[in-house]
Amino acid sequence: MTTTTSPGTPAEEAGGIYVIAAHPHWRDSRVNRRMLAAARAVPGVEVNDLYGSYPDFAIDVEAEQARLAKARLIVLVHPIQWYSMPALQKLWVDDVLTYGWAYGPGGTALQGKDFWLVATTGSPEPSYHPQSYHRYFFDAFLPPYEQTAALCGMRFLPPLIFYGARSADEAEVTAHVETYAQRLGSYPDWPEIEEIDACVACPVPEADRPAESDDVSKAVSSAFHSAMTRGIASMSAANENSSNQEGTA
Ligand SMILES: Cc1cc2nc3c(=O)[nH]c(=O)nc-3n(C[C@H](O)[C@H](O)[C@H](O)COP(=O)(O)O)c2cc1C
Repeated sequence: MTTTTSPGTPAEEAGGIYVIAAHPHWRDSRVNRRMLAAARAVPGVEVNDLYGSYPDFAIDVEAEQARLAKARLIVLVHPIQWYSMPALQKLWVDDVLTYGWAYGPGGTALQGKDFWLVATTGSPEPSYHPQSYHRYFFDAFLPPYEQTAALCGMRFLPPLIFYGARSADEAEVTAHVETYAQRLGSYPDWPEIEEIDACVACPVPEADRPAESDDVSKAVSSAFHSAMTRGIASMSAANENSSNQEGTA
């Protein structure tokens, strides 16, 4: 379920913002739910509630790629779960950022765009410390996001992390949601944006992913498909036989 608000803002003039928001349990959400509503109210921003759009996890890859292609800023918004993203958000990355489209030879669809991670944690910031129970500063969990952006030629903007979403007081939550909406509304006129380096080029040499590997996966998928087809055919034949037998008994 995506929503697009009306054009005419800096964001829209800059080429559009696509917000991909993922929360497996919106009803239990304290912070992300308010961020979802706030993003929907920002003109020129397209918002996709992933768990609302794809309750069956069947992601419409073509539609997602079309939305990405027309955006200049791509925003991932979610609660941190096990130091990473919720399952459907990860499936979205797996399915949508495909070889030859998002990265690899000919995969230039996202090049030059900006990527922004907006995430909440349950634990407070001091717990992300070598001397505390998460053992690492939170930055230690960012490389998979950062390198995903880089491989696709996107500039990784400084993430907006809200720590301690469960324990923060109401005023902190409100201030955070306001900052988030203000940032969406003012993109790309962010004070620090000119200072952020363009992404380093990460071309994947064709030799690193020879055509054969694709052929193998195609062969496996085609073998699977014919096995399924044969299985279904023999099941229907068996059913037909048994109904014929029933009919003649
Ligand atoms: C399965 C699961 C895994 C979680 N893993 C983490 C984690 O690794 N680190 C953390 O700080 N919080 C973790 N949390 C807490 C969520 O990040 C936290 O509840 C959420 O950010 C709160 O945002 P909300 O009010 O929008 O739901 C986890 C929560 C769940 C349900």
